[in-house]
Amino acid sequence: MCKMFKLLLITVYVGSFSFVPANAQGEYKLPSYSSRDGFVPVVGKNGMVSVRETIAAEIGAEILEKGGNAIDAAAAVGFALAVTYPQAGNIGGGGFMIVHTAKNNTTVAIDYREMAAGTARHDQYVIDDKVDQKLAKFSRQSSGVPGTVAGMALAVEKYGTMSLREVLEPAYKLANKGFKIYTQLEMSLARSKERLGADPAAAKVFYKADGSNYKTGEILKQKDLAKSLRAIMRQGTDAFYKGEIAEKITADMAANDGLITMADMAAYKVYEREPVYGTYKGYKIATMPPPSSGGMHMIQMMNMLENDDLKAQGHNSAATLHLYIEAMRQAYADRSLYAGDPAFFNIPVDKLINKEYAKEIRARIPLDRARVSAEVAPTKNLAYESPETTHYSVMDKWGNAVSNTYTLNFGFGNGIMAEGTGILLNNELDDFDHEPYKPDANGNVSGKANAQEPYKRPRSSMTPTIVFKDDMPFLITGSPGGGTIINTVFQTVMNVIEFDMNVAAASSKPRINHQWMPDMTTIESGVSQDTLNILTDMGHKFNSGRRTLGSTNSIVYRDGYFYGAHDPRSMNAATIGIN
Ligand code: GLY
Repeated sequence: MCKMFKLLLITVYVGSFSFVPANAQGEYKLPSYSSRDGFVPVVGKNGMVSVRETIAAEIGAEILEKGGNAIDAAAAVGFALAVTYPQAGNIGGGGFMIVHTAKNNTTVAIDYREMAAGTARHDQYVIDDKVDQKLAKFSRQSSGVPGTVAGMALAVEKYGTMSLREVLEPAYKLANKGFKIYTQLEMSLARSKERLGADPAAAKVFYKADGSNYKTGEILKQKDLAKSLRAIMRQGTDAFYKGEIAEKITADMAANDGLITMADMAAYKVYEREPVYGTYKGYKIATMPPPSSGGMHMIQMMNMLENDDLKAQGHNSAATLHLYIEAMRQAYADRSLYAGDPAFFNIPVDKLINKEYAKEIRARIPLDRARVSAEVAPTKNLAYESPETTHYSVMDKWGNAVSNTYTLNFGFGNGIMAEGTGILLNNELDDFDHEPYKPDANGNVSGKANAQEPYKRPRSSMTPTIVFKDDMPFLITGSPGGGTIINTVFQTVMNVIEFDMNVAAASSKPRINHQWMPDMTTIESGVSQDTLNILTDMGHKFNSGRRTLGSTNSIVYRDGYFYGAHDPRSMNAATIGIN
């Protein structure tokens, strides 16, 4: 190949992106993925969206088709999910977004996590020396100031090509005209009826006038939510944080013992943070920094295992799973001490992701026996984190990529809708550590890193991630799953970059979860009984109840093609390739 042409090719390939399906040498290639993996990804030539819910995925795909970039599509998907996937899609919650922009080759972590109100206290929910669970999880006092509207607006205004109004419009139409109830939503609404039915505003939206349930195929309209979306389209984020929506939310709070005031709403800020970066066998990983604990602990685990030949040991073999469990045990022990809001607590991120530290803690793992968690770090109460969150990944033909995870915390948040807004409220403040509060003999209150304080953000596990190969986005992934998120994303990334699986196989293989305390591993079905026997003989303990772990939406970009997959663990998800 002549030198000039080669130079031009490299400039096109690295500088902007490859529009032509070709390998690094410039040779045309058909799509290729390993069919030995037994699962087949969706393939696209000009971009990809992978979302937990189909209607929202289609909206993202339409935006890409008509020339919007990945950030436009991601914001439109985020707003659409607030309508079509009220279990976790939201404008009343918050989350985290990793954005890579191809033009400047920059990557940012957008923190739009909820924030505690100015009057929130560390012992907010303690009554008679005990945490009142109803207050902590199902009252207006469990809600933080929502961040989603500000987060999506910042992303689209700074990194998108469309206006906030344009990316809100599809969601507005869906709320106003309605959409067909799909089976998973019918099931979720039926399951959550006791909670949602107890709130007059939510009951009016999600159940029929006679109290009966909506069935699959019937139309769900959300007129108040449509009005709220319309107000943001007309007046921008001020409608939400300073204007008519803020007034309705805070009036609802004031009338019902809630905490959030107009001053709290106006004080909300989105932060653009430097992602936490790691490397693994030549790949670069950009993931979420605190207040999410997800990124730093995923990188910590990867660092611990980087010098092991896991591939030779075998995927989900006893030897590999033993190392996974012990790495998880250590990471979650550290997480209990160090993770929280960086504005309030000095989090030793650099130490936790340091490769020398990883070597030290890897050296402490015996190869022939399971440790007990008490041997790794002292016991401490950890907050329960709900698995009801949602993740989506988007990539466009220019090489821009978005990895977004957001949530109301529990499915449908605290189940309360702020009167007149159509907006479900989050119960994210339950992600703070709520006990114990009593200072020890030295005056230390344990759980300080993640104790509830005014204007603080609760620790999260959300781990939206972009893995780079040769400085270009290679894998975009993330998952819901509360405290299990970090382990799900870790295993998905390892499946792709350590075990060379195609993205569909990587999303489908059985997963495990260990969180230090309780000293138990959850294991999905599909790992052989022989393997479990070996691990049990080594001293590992397993939860008897089987459950699924996580629900990923992932994209791999390679040689000019986008390969995508949603998790077979979720009903009604969609991955759409743009051609
Ligand atoms: N509420 C779940 C999380 O933030 O990880």
